Amino acid sequence: HRPVFRLVSSAGPAAADLGRDEQPPGSEVPGTEDKTPKKRFSEVQRERREQAQRTALIHCPNKISEKKFLKYLSQHGPIKNHFFYESFGLYALVEFCQKDSIDSLKHGSHTPSLSTEAAIPFRSRFFSLRQRNPSSQSSEQSCVKISSQVPPTNRKLFDVLYYAESVDDQLNNLLKASELTEENTKLRYLTCSLIEDIAAAYFPSCTVRPFGSSVNTFGKLGCDLDMFLDLDEFRENTTNKNVGNFLMEFQVKSVPSERIATQKILSVIGECLDHFGPGCVGLQKILNARCPLVRFSHQPSGFQCDLTTNNRIALKSSELLYIYGALDSRVRALVFSIRHWARTHSLTSSIPGAWITNFSLTMMVIFFLQRRSPPILPTLDSLKSLAGAEDKCIIEGNNCTFLSDLNKIKPSGNTETLELLLKEFFEYFGNFAFNKNSINIRQGKEQNKPDSSPLYIQNPFETSLNVSKNVSQSQMQKFVDLARESAWILDQEDRASSDDRPWGLAALLLPSIISKSHAKRSKNKPASERVRSLLESIKQGNTADPASTDGE
Ligand code: CTP
Ligand code: MG
Repeated sequence: HRPVFRLVSSAGPAAADLGRDEQPPGSEVPGTEDKTPKKRFSEVQRERREQAQRTALIHCPNKISEKKFLKYLSQHGPIKNHFFYESFGLYALVEFCQKDSIDSLKHGSHTPSLSTEAAIPFRSRFFSLRQRNPSSQSSEQSCVKISSQVPPTNRKLFDVLYYAESVDDQLNNLLKASELTEENTKLRYLTCSLIEDIAAAYFPSCTVRPFGSSVNTFGKLGCDLDMFLDLDEFRENTTNKNVGNFLMEFQVKSVPSERIATQKILSVIGECLDHFGPGCVGLQKILNARCPLVRFSHQPSGFQCDLTTNNRIALKSSELLYIYGALDSRVRALVFSIRHWARTHSLTSSIPGAWITNFSLTMMVIFFLQRRSPPILPTLDSLKSLAGAEDKCIIEGNNCTFLSDLNKIKPSGNTETLELLLKEFFEYFGNFAFNKNSINIRQGKEQNKPDSSPLYIQNPFETSLNVSKNVSQSQMQKFVDLARESAWILDQEDRASSDDRPWGLAALLLPSIISKSHAKRSKNKPASERVRSLLESIKQGNTADPASTDGE
């Protein structure tokens, strides 16, 4: 007998204020078919970006009256939404109804004069609110509601799984407990918007766009914030006034390659963030990576940020995942559970190395769902064939065309339960011919591997690239062994009625015999792989021991 357990939505007051159509995709109650039209990815990005531009981040005194706080800020204009959160101090995210209010707030603020240090007078939308007369308010209790921005504890996740009514419930509840909240999403777009203001010092009409798990609906609380500096906007916005025989161009400096241009731009923006960016700390320039980037912590939001430039293809792949995540409510539940399973068994890590990444795991789940009969997800080629003229998209010679209006895609007739899909996933990949086949979500079928990488997942848009090129043979073997063991455990579960032991998905998260034997083997392994992983992480600027990092 399992007690009935209902998970209370972690969405706070901000989500409650939003209309139904402003809720993030996938936020519907599991099991209820959502008939409201789903927004296009580009529409969501536009709205979130505009919302972030009307928003300010305020460091508050620890004790504050919410009523007085709102009254004070309303002098700059009506407030649409706000929430408080803690991150080494109390912060408030305040969304005004109009953008003008931000200008008014900026006009009413001043640069502090510091006693022992000198301030860099950069006027951003990140403020500090001070009390003029702290003693008069000290008796006032802080009565603000705090919105949590951190992932659920293992204890909470254990309860979520243990007290669920079925394996399907377990997967859906795990999703609800760990997905990005409305508030966290707002904080992510705001952080990009704040970084954009700094980059705009050099490139006035640039855009800093989030991509990856912050926007593709597969992000969990605590995931990093991937963003890219988009300078292509210039090209799009130029209205063609060049009638007649003339064409006007900017005089520019030139460098030998696109890569060098990227490195130069990221280098100065990195310096700027480091020296002038309020809240930006621990900046590292990783300019020699395949995709050069600047990594830093945005202290007030608590996000680890990776800033790249001209990464439009990655934004397209975020859009593709957004569509796959929205097409069927089982997709995200399955992906979140498998990622959680992989993290628990140290198949994935928060630092780069020879292990499988969350992105690769997501591609594997999508591929698996394309292979069901009938398929749960369409292939990328079929999404391309459904595309209209407005969807046509070629980036750097790569065809990234696919249907953007996901309401035009027919829902799958497949009615398999999550419980079955979870088990079949482990069966499928426990027996997959990784030694000769590659995973290809464009065609939805396995192909011969073009090289001998232990795991080959074709990049959906840059089709000559392997998404999981980094994965070592021993990590691959560990994945296969754990998948087989998990399929076996789920199979046993079918037969034995469970008593008080963790059951269903929770049973798969217990320390595994296989993990232990792999850990032992890897400790005994003398050279190549461990050294390679270590070198890889040093190259990326990390020196931590992979085994000891559990940032998530
Ligand atoms: N990406 C890619 N090929 C890779 C790695 C990453 O195209 N080999 C792109 C994907 O679009 C991915 C994005 O870069 O979503 C960000 O990469 P990463 O942060 O590694 O993955 P996320 O999807 O953001 O997942 P996580 O929550 O682990 O950060
Ligand atoms: Mg990421």
